[in-house]
Amino acid sequence: MSKDSKPKHPDTRLTTAGRDPEANFGIINPPVYHASTVTFPTVAALHDAEKHRFDRVYYGRYGTPTTFAFEEAVADLEGAAHCVAVPSGLAAIAISLSALLHGGEHALITDNAYFPTAKFANTFLKKFGVTVSYYDPMAPAADIQALIRPETKVVFTEAPGSMTFEVQDIPMIADIAHEAGAKVIMDNTWSAGHFFKPFAHGVDVSIQAATKYLVGHSDAMLGAITTNDEDIYNHIKITQVGLGYATGPDDCYLGLRGMRSLAPRLERHQATGLKLAEWLAARPEIATVLHPALPNCPGHDIWKRDFSGASGLFSIVLKDNYGPGDRARMLDGMELFAMGWSWGGYESLIIPSDPRTMRTTYTWPYNQPVLRLHAGLEDSDDLIEDLRAGLKRLSG
Ligand SMILES: Cc1ncc(COP(=O)(O)O)c(C=O)c1O
Repeated sequence: MSKDSKPKHPDTRLTTAGRDPEANFGIINPPVYHASTVTFPTVAALHDAEKHRFDRVYYGRYGTPTTFAFEEAVADLEGAAHCVAVPSGLAAIAISLSALLHGGEHALITDNAYFPTAKFANTFLKKFGVTVSYYDPMAPAADIQALIRPETKVVFTEAPGSMTFEVQDIPMIADIAHEAGAKVIMDNTWSAGHFFKPFAHGVDVSIQAATKYLVGHSDAMLGAITTNDEDIYNHIKITQVGLGYATGPDDCYLGLRGMRSLAPRLERHQATGLKLAEWLAARPEIATVLHPALPNCPGHDIWKRDFSGASGLFSIVLKDNYGPGDRARMLDGMELFAMGWSWGGYESLIIPSDPRTMRTTYTWPYNQPVLRLHAGLEDSDDLIEDLRAGLKRLSG
C-alpha cells in the first residue's frame, strides 16, 4: 500500500489507527508517556499550548500523546471526528450527561440502561436540578414522543440493553429527539463500535466502556466518548478536565493494544456466543434465551437492520420451577464460566441479575432473574460441557 492511500476496510483501520512509527524511531507502537507537568521554553509557547490544550500536549490531565493515540483509534473505529478518553465506562456516561445537561432541564433515559447509569441520573443529575424520567426501550414512536418535554435536552439509549438485550430503534429515537431539540447519547459498549456505527444512525454522543471489548483482557479501567459535533466535544472536554478526570497512559496503551485484535476477537465471541445461545435455547431447563441474533429477542428485526454482527454477551432465563438454591448449585459449580461483573475479556463469565428490582416503566415478564453469560475465547465445546453440567446441577 502506498503511503498516502487511506486504508478502507475496518479491520485494516483497526491495525493502523493511532500509530505514527515515523515519529517514534520506527517503533510500531506509541510509547507510554507519563506526565503531569509539561514545560514550555517561552511565554509565547506557554500561551500557544494553552490555546490548543484540547488537542496538544499542555498538562497531564488534558492527555499525553498516548491518550491522543487511543482517542484517534476509537474515533476512527466509531466514525467520529472526536474522542475523549476517560478513566472508566461509567465516567464516560457521567461526563456526557453532565456536559449536555443543566439544572431545570430533563433527561429521558431508557429503562434497560446499565444500572449505574440510572443511579448516576437519580442521584447526581437530580441533585443538580435535572429532572430524570425513563422510557420502555421497546416503546413505539408515539409513546416516546409523549414523554418528551419542552425542557428535554438528552435522550439516553443503550442498544441492546446489557442485561435484558432489547434492541432499541436508534434512528427512530434520534428523529424524535432531534425534532424536539434534544441530543442522543448512546451506550454502544455491546457492539464495541465494530458492529454498530452510531453516527450513521443519528447518535450525537457515543460512549463505550473500553474496559470491555476494546481493552479485551479484563485488566484496565478505561472509557471513551466520541462525537462528530465540535460544540459538544468542547463541552465534554471542558467537563472532563473541569471535574479532574485524568486517564492513565498505561490504560490508554492497553486499550490501543486491545483494539489491534478487536475484529478477530469479536468474530470468535460472536461465533461462540451464537453456538451457546442456540444450544441453550433447545434445553428443557430454559424459559428463554435473550440474544439479539435470535428471532425471539425483543428488537431482533432492528438488530438485523442496523447491526453488522453480535458480540458475545447475552442472557438466559430459567424455567419457573427453579429456585435460588437450585441456581446457586448451578453457578457455584461452574468450572470455566467465572462469576464476576464486567465482560468483554477473553474469559467466559456468568452472573445472576434481577431486572424485577430495576425496571420502572414495564413489568419484567418472568418470575426469574436473568443469568447473563459472556462467551469468551475458550473452546465452545468445553463451554457447552460446563453449561451441561451446570444445568444438571439445577435438579440436585
Ligand atoms: C453497558 C455498560 N456500560 C457501562 C459500563 C461501565 O463501565 P466501567 O465498569 O468501565 O465503568 C458497563 C460495565 O459493566 C456496562 O456493562
